[in-house]
Amino acid sequence: MDGPRILLTGGSGTLGTELRALLPGILAPTHRELDLLDSEAVLEGVLGSAPDVILHAAAYTDVAAAEAERAACWSLNVGGTHAVVTAAREVGARLVHISTDYVFSGDDPPPEGYREDDPPGPVRNYYALSKLAAEEVARSLPGSLILRTSFRPRAWPYPVAFTDVFTSQDYVDVIAPEIALAVRYLDRIDVATLHIATERKSVFDLAKRRRPDVRPGSKREAGVALPDDITLDVSRWRALRPHLAP
Ligand SMILES: NC(=O)c1ccc[n+]([C@@H]2O[C@H](COP(=O)([O-])OP(=O)(O)OC[C@H]3O[C@@H](n4cnc5c(N)ncnc54)[C@H](OP(=O)(O)O)[C@@H]3O)[C@@H](O)[C@H]2O)c1
Repeated sequence: MDGPRILLTGGSGTLGTELRALLPGILAPTHRELDLLDSEAVLEGVLGSAPDVILHAAAYTDVAAAEAERAACWSLNVGGTHAVVTAAREVGARLVHISTDYVFSGDDPPPEGYREDDPPGPVRNYYALSKLAAEEVARSLPGSLILRTSFRPRAWPYPVAFTDVFTSQDYVDVIAPEIALAVRYLDRIDVATLHIATERKSVFDLAKRRRPDVRPGSKREAGVALPDDITLDVSRWRALRPHLAP
């Protein structure tokens, strides 16, 4: 691959699978090959592959289960990010940390959505808390890029979708190419935080695009507290993007 040598964590995940296809030559050790819960192994693995960039997409992502499995969620999202930051510092790699719109409360968002520099929180659930803490760990490494996004698998997986949650998320095959573009031209991005998402819509409206028979539902059925409207303002990305694409 021309360009920077990139090491991806979470390469078998929903986002990671797309990124591997979009960034040929990317180094993508498996969970077994690079267990983020083992900080010494992470350091050793990163030193061995000497990346210019670490794209950190591995995480504990089960929002509902995180309420009961707090230790597992914290260990991977915060402790794992700490291990990645330590290794990145050691090898001199730039970190791109994948974060989430859930760092915002979803109460009274600005009309165009939350901007990168709006204060996060108070978060609605434990997963969001762990991701917010992970952002601060990532930010402790100078030059790191916190990339906040939100996506769904290529096909809408549920029979029901919420009409009372508003979001700028999109399907992973829409979001991943944008993230790949940002990573490919990372040397032209000098901001610390960037939102990559699409326009505001309800989760139900998003679901209908790929599953026309989806039924309307309410977030009250989710079994975990969810925010009302965590739309991200993506004007920073819209302004940057034309300077990246060849
Ligand atoms: N999905 C969303 O709606 C969404 C929204 C906003 C932000 N995000 C963020 O986007 C990123 C990717 O999410 P995703 O939905 O693509 O994740 P995912 O499908 O749940 O995949 C998680 C990945 O983490 C890996 N992993 C788990 N434990 C690990 C460990 N101890 N060491 C190393 N790797 C480990 C998994 O590998 P194995 O499968 O082999 O265990 C898998 O590759 C995450 O940072 C997430 O917080 C996701």
